[in-house]
Amino acid sequence: MATTRRLTGFKPTGHLHLGNLLGALRPLIAAQDHTESIAMIADLHAMTMEHDPQRLRALALETATVMLAAGVDPARTPIILQSQIPEHTELHYLLECVTGFGEASRMIQFKEKSAAGGPIRLSLLTYPVLMAADILLYDIDQVPVGEDQNQHLELTRTLATRFNARYGDTFRVPAGVRPEAAARIMDLADPTVKMGKSNAAGAGRIGLLDPPEVVRRTVARAVTDEFAQVRRHPDQPGVTNLIDILAECTGQQPSDPVSYGALKRDVTDAIESLLAPIRARHAELAEDPAYVREILAKGAAAVRPIAMATCSAARDAIGLLQ
Ligand code: TRP
Repeated sequence: MATTRRLTGFKPTGHLHLGNLLGALRPLIAAQDHTESIAMIADLHAMTMEHDPQRLRALALETATVMLAAGVDPARTPIILQSQIPEHTELHYLLECVTGFGEASRMIQFKEKSAAGGPIRLSLLTYPVLMAADILLYDIDQVPVGEDQNQHLELTRTLATRFNARYGDTFRVPAGVRPEAAARIMDLADPTVKMGKSNAAGAGRIGLLDPPEVVRRTVARAVTDEFAQVRRHPDQPGVTNLIDILAECTGQQPSDPVSYGALKRDVTDAIESLLAPIRARHAELAEDPAYVREILAKGAAAVRPIAMATCSAARDAIGLLQ
């Protein structure tokens, strides 16, 4: 039986953080020997909201560099930059021709982001169709997605099924998988929201490249409560999050009872031992951006034949003269 093919996508709208490492990168690295994984940097998706060209380019390179530093092995897992493989945008258009305006505008993320005010890019509306193209291009079986991407994955399945029914069997219909990490890592300053690349001030986010003193300060300032009880409890989202982070980082539950101060020290140490090697490896790799760019070129070369074959089959099926 062929191995399962997985696609993990990262949108370079900010610096990769602890939530990305525990929720997506570590599972990707762990799955390298039993799946055929592709790691994609979705730079086109980072242009669906106001963006700065310099920063986008820098973040694309940084994201690739951090992936390598964290242990993604490019010999087993192609690391690709979405914009370097033109079939993504080509298939995007073909899929737009099987997508309804209504179903695109009903996407929760579109509704939320377009309600925020300011000009709305058309690409924000069609974002999930591009995501469907990313996935369907590579005959993907499994897509690890957080809750916020569930609806987009469902749309991908709908579009694949619809295209296959109308124009003949062309796409493999992918399944969503929950990342293996047990816990959702929440923001340390506001433990009711997920740690995110673009949360407002970033005061509660631990960047994978944050220096040790910043990590220590961010954990020290993490929101807790007045209960003074170290336990996982719905009324104590901040403390629960710290316990979860500790458990994810070390594979152990905290030995109780401990004070909040002791918990925070343990969390700081645990994060630090996870980040120190990544930081060091990143510093080496960052000296040689040409090497990282070559990894991206090799990744593109490795997967492009699959993308071209799928695109060609889709063009043929939908009625374009080949
Ligand atoms: N939309 C995803 C996010 O915001 C990123 C993404 C783009 C993606 N294309 C993908 C994820 C394909 C998985 C598969 O996180």
